[in-house]
Amino acid sequence: MNLFVLTGAGISAESGLGTFRDPGGLWRRFDPMRLATPEAFAAEPDEVHAFYNLRRRGVREAAPNAAHAALVRLEAGLAARGGHLFLCTQNVDDLHERAGARAVTHMHGELMRVRCTACGEGRPWPEDLSVETACPSCGRRGGMRPDVVWFGEVPLHLDAIADALDEADLFVAIGTSGAVYPAAGFVARVRGAGIPTHEINLAPSDTAGLFDAATYGPATRAVPAFVDGLLRETGGS
Ligand code: APR
Repeated sequence: MNLFVLTGAGISAESGLGTFRDPGGLWRRFDPMRLATPEAFAAEPDEVHAFYNLRRRGVREAAPNAAHAALVRLEAGLAARGGHLFLCTQNVDDLHERAGARAVTHMHGELMRVRCTACGEGRPWPEDLSVETACPSCGRRGGMRPDVVWFGEVPLHLDAIADALDEADLFVAIGTSGAVYPAAGFVARVRGAGIPTHEINLAPSDTAGLFDAATYGPATRAVPAFVDGLLRETGGS
């Protein structure tokens, strides 16, 4: 079986990382247009760095949860039977990787990486960043930015994602509101191809009506239960 799993902020919520649009969510407390656009970075780099430094510290202090771990079991279980899990995340945290996921496609980039706007060099970067930080590659200061996709920028790995959607036998969305495209459009695309779809979320998402099946509840309970059921169905442990 080729399984496509799309995750959003809800899978990391029980690890203590906030979501964006829930009550108290990040974009309920901060204006994304002032912190998560190339224009904002050009105009107020110190504010943008302070915002992402805080988020980076939060990710460092967070731990993967049972939902991340269940997807690692699923990845291994499918591979053991010649199947494949394509794990696409909208999240910029590294909790999937720290749970042991072997292949994660970060379509919105990665908070624990930075990129130099002068030379384009990207690299892992768990520490704080400022306008004083010199690029280790070209030496220039003032241009080091979080390696995340901001509003108005093109999401990453779209060709690989499209291929994986075309090859999927099942599409599962976990912990996403279905508010942001192109990710929110994936379910309609696979549905149009007759592929079964399943939503796992705390509450029905904006695209809930497009899913054939749904499990509502906290991800740390719903995802392990879903994974156990799927592995049983597909003849695995
Ligand atoms: N378990 C499962 N789902 C949860 C939990 C939980 N414990 N807590 C919250 N959720 C669900 C909410 O019901 C909501 O539908 O997670 C979803 C989070 O939605 P958003 O906050 O909109 O996050 P997301 O869908 O990942 O946002 C997509 O928007 O701003 C951009 O780049 C940002 O990647 C992000 C994108």
